[in-house]
Amino acid sequence: MNDFNNDLVEIDSGDEPMSNHSDNPHFSTILEKRLSRRQMLTGSLGVAVAGMFGASGVTSLANAASGSFLPPAAGAKPPFALNPTLGFDAIPVTRSDTATLPLGYKAQALIPWGTPVTGTYPEYKANGSNTGEEQEQQVGSHHDGMHYFPMKNDPNGHGLLCVNHEYVDQRVFHAAGATLVAGQRPTDEVRKEIAAHGVSVVEVKKDKGTGEWNVVNGNYNRRVTAGTPMEIRGPVRGSDLVKTKFSPNGSMTRGTINNCAHGYTPWGTYLTCEENWAGYFVNKTTPPREHSRYGVSTSNGRYRWEAAQSGADEYIRFDASTKAVDATEDYRNEPNCQGWVVEIDPFNPNSTPVKRTALGRFAHEGAWLSPPQLGQPVVFYMGDDAQNEYIYKFVTKARYTRSVKGEILDEGTLYVARFYDDGTGVWLALDYNNMAFQAAAANANVVFKDQADVLVNTRLAADVVGATKMDRPEWGAVHPQTREAYMTLTNNSIRAPGEIDAANPRGPNPTGHIIRWREQGNRSWAEKFEWDIFVLSGDENNSQVLPEQGGPALTQDNIHASADGLWIDQNGILWIQTDMSGSQQGTGPFGANAMLAANPVTGEIKRFLTGPNDQETTGVVSTPDGKTMFVNFQHPGDRSQPGAFTSNWPDSGAVYRHPGDPEVVAVPSGARPRSATIVITREDGGIVGL
Ligand code: FEO
Ligand code: CA
Ligand code: CA
Ligand code: CA
Repeated sequence: MNDFNNDLVEIDSGDEPMSNHSDNPHFSTILEKRLSRRQMLTGSLGVAVAGMFGASGVTSLANAASGSFLPPAAGAKPPFALNPTLGFDAIPVTRSDTATLPLGYKAQALIPWGTPVTGTYPEYKANGSNTGEEQEQQVGSHHDGMHYFPMKNDPNGHGLLCVNHEYVDQRVFHAAGATLVAGQRPTDEVRKEIAAHGVSVVEVKKDKGTGEWNVVNGNYNRRVTAGTPMEIRGPVRGSDLVKTKFSPNGSMTRGTINNCAHGYTPWGTYLTCEENWAGYFVNKTTPPREHSRYGVSTSNGRYRWEAAQSGADEYIRFDASTKAVDATEDYRNEPNCQGWVVEIDPFNPNSTPVKRTALGRFAHEGAWLSPPQLGQPVVFYMGDDAQNEYIYKFVTKARYTRSVKGEILDEGTLYVARFYDDGTGVWLALDYNNMAFQAAAANANVVFKDQADVLVNTRLAADVVGATKMDRPEWGAVHPQTREAYMTLTNNSIRAPGEIDAANPRGPNPTGHIIRWREQGNRSWAEKFEWDIFVLSGDENNSQVLPEQGGPALTQDNIHASADGLWIDQNGILWIQTDMSGSQQGTGPFGANAMLAANPVTGEIKRFLTGPNDQETTGVVSTPDGKTMFVNFQHPGDRSQPGAFTSNWPDSGAVYRHPGDPEVVAVPSGARPRSATIVITREDGGIVGL
């Protein structure tokens, strides 16, 4: 029986989350003010950039003569080559059930969902009949954020891949879809779904002969799932808001859910970020603000894990209804244990993952490190991916030394961004002890008990200080040389024309844009910044590169929509990955979801890669030499029904093709589609992208 699959289609095929209902101003006249000021000053929008980044203490970077946007350190003393030349021919808009790569490039598929990696190494069963116990020893589903940790003795041929598994598509995941009988789920189906979430740590090695990458069946391999015990650290540890029957003192919880993008630390650990976790819970009693502001359901959980037939504690915890006198006797606080950044030490497979609560609780897309500087605070940028939610950063209290560990993340200041109409912005502290924060809370008539309360209710705290509502912040990327930060704003269907602002200048915004900022004095921990828009994504008639500089519209070589994944590599290439859903991918002008490469200095953009049917391209990292690139294809065959697959990638047909090769057509009765990592190299062994 699949009588709730119809509900799931909508949820599974996209992650369009809830919206911010707070009454923060949209700064609706900001764009008009900004544009009219510039036009008045210069007579045209095209050359209006001149004053923008030269206005304050920030290093002047606008180069009006060439129209380029020069990183501040580019002319100074580059710590390494900054050479973002795009040395490949753009591939066309494509729809084909395989990867399409530029001429001169090749690829293999690695660690698809179901690959055995631990324990007894149970084989993947192509008919979807693996058990929950087997899934616990196999690579999870819906690959997303990813990092590669190189081994010291062979960094470019041997390392640990950490891969997030965001969710499951029950129609593809089980042999015949999900089962629901009299409101209950078969326990093993639930166990298997829980096991396919979380993170895989997989040791991978390049075969020196063939050049192929393989899984090493070694001791580093590990599955972290939506059921793995985790420690709660930072200001929320021990708070009444995280006390549960499982952990009456509020120090532990189980599982990490909807792991979207990621981060990594300078001390060699992986950060996995909990995004659309709220929908996995149900609260049928009166939801407190820390549930309702995040969209915890009042009817049933997304997959009804709370209704597993066994009724075991590990499943009923997804029902956050108040059932007992005291919070230590039920799971009313279980949703408060999700929405965090979780630190995992990939080199210690026995370590307990740690929820670093000082970094706030929201629909965390990822956590992006600004290149650390000895003797200065460590800084991470973060986005809350929901309509009209916010951009955050975290600044550690302690200073960076080569001996710091994860504990440095337990004390610091969480900030939220406000973007002003004149191209400047401020970071507003969400700090219980900060006078301005206290005044803002009092002014809004909102009471916080302590910093733990502020952090569990991060969205509310950000509402209170008047942060700028953004068009769904997804991935960030920080330039390794200049520390300039980029962030995708994927789209926003509910921004009304009257609610636009300079930082979110289109309403509605179906195709999204990429914003970037530079901190005052190029200090990532500064409280002021300047910003502009790198690209307004869209088709040829509704797009512009570097609009502040009067840049060109996108062309067939680079039109794209709903940018999501983002990464700046060792050579300064900005990689942009798209996550169009539904009709935008199926019938629009953009073709399949793609990865593009951009030169952040000149604004040149070229389409590099497209993926198989219905997938989103998300997650990208390379070996330190830049010669092997790992990219994830998530949810190929996203519009499948049980037994009728809209993609067969990667198990049948070619893993990749080149432009001009025959298109690959999916066979509904063919292989079950599987999320997987695609390993991209150049046929001549050169650096990918250059
Ligand atoms: Fe899981 Fe915001 O993407
Ligand atoms: Ca998605
Ligand atoms: Ca994403
Ligand atoms: Ca997305």
